[in-house]
Amino acid sequence: MDNIFEKEFTRDTIFLDRNLITPHYTPKVLPFRDAHIKQVTGILANTLKGQKADNIFIYGKTGTGKTSVTKHVMEQLLNFASGKNIPVLGNYVNCRNHNSKYRVLIKIAKDIYPEENFLGFSAAFVYEKIVDFARKGKQLVFVLDEIDKVKDLDELIYGLTRSNDELQTGGISIIGISNNLMFKDRLDPRTKSSLCEQELVFPPYNASELTEILQQRSTIAFKPGTVDVSAINVAAAIAAQESGDARTAVMLLLRAGEIADTKDSKIVNDVDVKKAKKIVEEEIIFNMVSTLPEQQQLVLYAIAKLSLEKKPMQKITGETEEGILFSGEIYDEYCKISKGLKETTISARWYRQYINELEMYGLIYSTTSGKGFKGQTRLIKLGFEAHKIKNLIERELAG
Ligand SMILES: Nc1ncnc2c1ncn2[C@@H]1O[C@H](COP(=O)(O)OP(=O)(O)OP(=O)(O)O)[C@@H](O)[C@H]1O
Ligand SMILES: [Mg+2]
Repeated sequence: MDNIFEKEFTRDTIFLDRNLITPHYTPKVLPFRDAHIKQVTGILANTLKGQKADNIFIYGKTGTGKTSVTKHVMEQLLNFASGKNIPVLGNYVNCRNHNSKYRVLIKIAKDIYPEENFLGFSAAFVYEKIVDFARKGKQLVFVLDEIDKVKDLDELIYGLTRSNDELQTGGISIIGISNNLMFKDRLDPRTKSSLCEQELVFPPYNASELTEILQQRSTIAFKPGTVDVSAINVAAAIAAQESGDARTAVMLLLRAGEIADTKDSKIVNDVDVKKAKKIVEEEIIFNMVSTLPEQQQLVLYAIAKLSLEKKPMQKITGETEEGILFSGEIYDEYCKISKGLKETTISARWYRQYINELEMYGLIYSTTSGKGFKGQTRLIKLGFEAHKIKNLIERELAG
């Protein structure tokens, strides 16, 4: 009898190099981002002259190329510096995985001193070791990607930027990246002014830009002639309509390619992309939900739970609508859940901020009640299937 892997092993594929179309791959060419690349390059060039670069705050919606552009420019900077023996050192930290001041400092220190172990040492000690390194006349550039995930960010930024005052030679510059457009409001004014010495906004891509990005990518990721024009057009159109997000576009083509492969088709077309849409949408939502702060997950959980329990709402006009919730009842439900878990409950002001952010991520919709309801209140509706969101958060909280 054949081994069960035989068929998979010998299966023909339309991919030339599947890796090149996964979200982990940082493309070498980044069309439509020349101006952004130039701007970051201009700011960081100071480090090559032995001066501290301005700190940069980069923001824009998800999938607009913030990480790719920053990684690309940093790579070029470090290659150039090492080729010319200029003491510039860069460090990339994804704050999703290193989400506190202490964790960020440990990550940086470990990269700078690979042979030493810092776990267990105080934050002050680790911080001093990092500053020591700069004291030797080095320019350090720290990229803090997904910076909004750092719990005690004010302290981290204050510490890292303050060090420059005491450094005679050498310096520390920070590039902070976030897709949370409201995150700046949360910062202490002092942190805000030091982090945002320079600000860069990454706008969403439109359908024709996404089409070109996909065309370019498909030539390196797929075998020649295996991607139908209709596949690229539909993937670009879906991604442009949803969010202008290049990651969604790339993922659509990846999953569509896999769908084509499993049915041994020699070509990927628009039908495959439309099938891929559901899979990709779920992957993206799951990813988004799982990185929300825990209390925000609980707010979303309360919304999902109430959406499932609540009877359709009757308007004065006689119409009914399903899944419409009042902001106040969600907050009450959230408080109940949070207290049940013996967690510290967030204030109503923070709750409103969390609601604004959930809406920005497209996870919920909200409107003020206007006509048809008694009084004026904020109405909220979940953007996705309630039971899926509820199950997902239950798993997150258990894990
Ligand atoms: N200009 C571009 N050209 C080619 N591919 C791009 C471009 N911009 C983004 N991409 C693709 O989209 C994916 C997402 O981009 P990137 O990770 O840089 O987004 P981001 O802005 O950092 O998003 P997030 O806020 O979710 O972290 C990348 O892996 C890359 O494949
Ligand atoms: Mg990113």
